[in-house]
Amino acid sequence: QHVELELEAIEKGGFEHFMLKEIFEQPRSVKDCFRGRVNADEGHLVLGGLREYLDDIAKSERIVIVACGTSWHAGLVAEYIFEELARIPVEVEYASEFRYRNPIIKEGDVVLAISQSGETMDTLAAIELAKSRGAIILGICNVVGSSIPRITHAGAYTHAGPEIGVASTKAFTAQVSVLTLMAIAVARKKGNLHEDTFRRFLFELERIPDKIEKVLKNADKVKEISELFKDARNFIYLGRGLNFPVALEGALKLKEISYIHAEGYPAAEMKHGPIALIDEDMPVVFIATRDQSYEKVVSNIQEVKARKGKVIAVVTEGDKLIPTMADHVVEIPVTHEVLMPLLSVIPLQLLSYYIAVMRGCNVDQPRNLAKSVTVE
Ligand code: AGP
Repeated sequence: QHVELELEAIEKGGFEHFMLKEIFEQPRSVKDCFRGRVNADEGHLVLGGLREYLDDIAKSERIVIVACGTSWHAGLVAEYIFEELARIPVEVEYASEFRYRNPIIKEGDVVLAISQSGETMDTLAAIELAKSRGAIILGICNVVGSSIPRITHAGAYTHAGPEIGVASTKAFTAQVSVLTLMAIAVARKKGNLHEDTFRRFLFELERIPDKIEKVLKNADKVKEISELFKDARNFIYLGRGLNFPVALEGALKLKEISYIHAEGYPAAEMKHGPIALIDEDMPVVFIATRDQSYEKVVSNIQEVKARKGKVIAVVTEGDKLIPTMADHVVEIPVTHEVLMPLLSVIPLQLLSYYIAVMRGCNVDQPRNLAKSVTVE
């Protein structure tokens, strides 16, 4: 028993929980994911495992993404990026819904499955179904040699390393990293990316690990905020565009490990219902980075403040306006808009972690949950 506990402590590398270790590993796991794939100096971007299928993806009329949970959120981020850069329509489906419909899949359609474990039953079944209809099946998985990579035609591993905490953290940023590389590679293949833009992406990508490191330096600030909100009964997470899936992911993290009810919404949807929930006891987390919807998000923050909601905002470094309205702000560094989710999700992972610890929850093994869901 004693030896086992000591072994576990070593595995946790000095962190109190696996989840915290995995959150702090992200500068390295994202770097590992880029290793051998991105080289800005040489203007080089390769995803070895997908090379053979790059042409098919570039020619495809649509891409269907199937996944569950956090991996589904990574799929939503990919939808924005693929549509923006590669101009290919993307549908993101819950694997469990997809498999029980009669989905319209024809020969040559590209179906992309995302899964950390590579063992999720619903995702596996969705792949089998799409495969039986002649689709090209690609996989983005973390666990090498797991079931999903064995039944796909091709794919790319996320190389995040083993993820022990049930709440997925570093696997999410690694999935988003690979999907972003894929979207850039396909856009390039299609001739949609000018050489300068392409080079600028590579340059910015290589800077992401250091920028994540910088976000992690704000951990104490997030801890202080957590202390103030640990007893809240509900939370709302709002973001627009690429930050909408990040809002969903932030809410899922909080639900999973702290058992606080949380909802993620596109910020503009608030007025269609959720705004009725806002009062002085409602914490609202805004992902309000400097991007094309910034001004709109600022008005959404004002709407919440006018109803006395408590605003916690994730903002871009140097933002002067939002700190005058929000109750609390956490800054993240500037990057290309498309790469923002890789940074903006980090404070939300930390927020859920600290709140759960403060509430005395079992962070690494939350009740009712398993690391991989191998049942329907
Ligand atoms: C994430 O925090 C969850 N534990 C869960 O939603 C997970 O992402 C989902 O079950 C999918 O798992 P997979 O990526 O291994 O397929």
